[in-house]
Amino acid sequence: MLIIGAKGFAKEVLDTLHQQEEEDIVFYDDVNKDVDALLFGKFKILKSINEATKYFSENQNEFTIGIGNPQLRKRLCRKFEDIGGVLTSTIHPSAVIGQYDVLIHNGCNILAGSIISNSVILGKGCIVYYNAVITHDCSIGKFVEISPAVTILGRVKIGDFSHLGSNSTILPNITIGKNVVVGAGAVVTKDVPDNSVVVGVPARIVKTLDN
Ligand SMILES: CC(C)(COP(=O)(O)OP(=O)(O)OC[C@H]1O[C@@H](n2cnc3c(N)ncnc32)[C@H](O)[C@@H]1OP(=O)(O)O)[C@@H](O)C(=O)NCCC(=O)NCCS
Repeated sequence: MLIIGAKGFAKEVLDTLHQQEEEDIVFYDDVNKDVDALLFGKFKILKSINEATKYFSENQNEFTIGIGNPQLRKRLCRKFEDIGGVLTSTIHPSAVIGQYDVLIHNGCNILAGSIISNSVILGKGCIVYYNAVITHDCSIGKFVEISPAVTILGRVKIGDFSHLGSNSTILPNITIGKNVVVGAGAVVTKDVPDNSVVVGVPARIVKTLDN
């Protein structure tokens, strides 16, 4: 498996792959000049798109995104699909996932301790961080980042590219728009329009983002 990125979130994905007993693990970073040839002295870091193309043709062609930023995740998915990569989800064995009516699209990274109930849809490329809880009948868009210990209660809808900060709580039946940022610790009690930043308890809009 090729993990795109070799810093921060890529290290979280590495832990999941170890738990999945994946043996062929290689990283990719063509941006940061300070990364070594090997991560942790052990895992090769590819540094150009030509190297990645060669890796896909000579090995398995599965990749996953080891970077948190929703917009960047989308761009990187396209870049590596264009050279023949197959976007793949990673799911930690300790995650608890409902048995009924759950749809997890490709490229999701679901970390240790997270809980996903029944009748939940997770769009392409989402992150569900440590100990996040998504309860019944929720619909999560594409490339949504759900930070550690977020709680999403029943029938919530979340738009593409939104980021829920650590420990935030979304009350039942709420709709959060696209490209919304929810601050750490916020409690969202009302619907949130696209391109908003909300913080606090109860959450209030403090900024509007570019579309
Ligand atoms: C909401 C957030 C994105 C705002 O970041 P920002 O755009 O840089 O905004 P600022 O830091 O300028 O803050 C704007 C205002 O909101 C307040 N604020 C920021 N984050 C807040 C939070 N989580 N709760 C309450 N108030 C908050 C600031 O104090 C500031 O208030 P002021 O204007 O009265 O001084 C950020 O603070 C945050 O909570 N990010 C989530 C981080 C996280 O959970 N990451 C998980 C990684 S796995």
